[in-house]
Amino acid sequence: MTEKDFIPSKPIDLFEEGKVAYKSPSNIALVKYWGKREGQVPANPSISFTLSACATTTKINFKRLDSPNPEFSFEFFFEGNPKPSFIPKIETFFKRIEAYVPFLKDYHFIIESSNSFPHSSGIASSASGMSALALCLVEIERILQPGMDDGFFCKKASFLARLGSGSACRSIEGPLVSWGIHDEIPNSTNLYGVSYDFEVHPVFKNYHDTILLVDKGQKQVSSTVGHDLVKGHPFAEQRFQQAHRNLSSLKPILKSGNLEEFIKIVESEALTLHAIMMTGDPYFVLMKPNTLEIINKIWAFREASGTHVCFTLDAGANVHVLYPEKEKKEVYQFIVNELVAYCENQQYICDRIGLGATRLKV
Ligand code: DP6
Repeated sequence: MTEKDFIPSKPIDLFEEGKVAYKSPSNIALVKYWGKREGQVPANPSISFTLSACATTTKINFKRLDSPNPEFSFEFFFEGNPKPSFIPKIETFFKRIEAYVPFLKDYHFIIESSNSFPHSSGIASSASGMSALALCLVEIERILQPGMDDGFFCKKASFLARLGSGSACRSIEGPLVSWGIHDEIPNSTNLYGVSYDFEVHPVFKNYHDTILLVDKGQKQVSSTVGHDLVKGHPFAEQRFQQAHRNLSSLKPILKSGNLEEFIKIVESEALTLHAIMMTGDPYFVLMKPNTLEIINKIWAFREASGTHVCFTLDAGANVHVLYPEKEKKEVYQFIVNELVAYCENQQYICDRIGLGATRLKV
């Protein structure tokens, strides 16, 4: 498929009004997307676990304007209150997707969003937020022009979500989604996320992700700055190749359920992302002292207990603690006894692998 396939081929009949709602989860990358080219094209392929508890719910009321507006016409409410700081983000998103959603200027939209996780948790909400918004817009298109099949619906929602925030394209489906061209994933593309269709060992069923909120503050480095830093980075090319290799290595691991090998890739990916930031120009340290304390505790506990707990990180100080369902009791006890003390206000979120976004009745 190409971008052109997402431009509606027939003129769309406009309804007077309607409403739609979607709940879309966050996701946690095992092989990280870090670095992109013009047009939200990833510099390397990535793969993620779709999450379940951390999600954004978005409802859109749409009402036809008397005549098409020269500007986008919308209001945005976050957790019940107007949120002017989000307006420019949505405007940029609308501009990027206008060619694919040609009715955008024919309607006034009231967009209401809320997150299942605390807003001040320092958890990136762009993946769940942008995917929920994209899903609502494709749902509106499907109402205006019935007949879109489910497969195309998911692709288009992921395609639009990607234009809002790259990682958001991996939140539409679950439990594992890859994004970006990779030789050993035949249907892979840079345009949208694809559900990982290969055999996956049952040990990954119900996999847990307990998110330790080490630093709830504003992100020190935005994704935009982070991705920019990869341009011209002295290790960039090697990093992109490594991501391809890690994704290749993960395939047999996901099939066999070899958790020792899984851990090596997942932790190395997290540390590589941070190493790229530390060795950039300018350079950043995104971990906090407590991030390192937690990593060391996880390593010591894994060694002592023989469990398969491991960590991954996004571009910040919070730690995602990953572990299989069958070890949940032991690992959860460890988290509560030894790790929660390193979290800001002892806060953490219990999440697990999930199946993707759901449409809500309105
Ligand atoms: C570190 O998706 O937030 O979470 O495309 O600029 O919105 P933009 O970037 P974003 O990048 C997040 C990258 C990451 C790793 C990952 O999720 O793969």
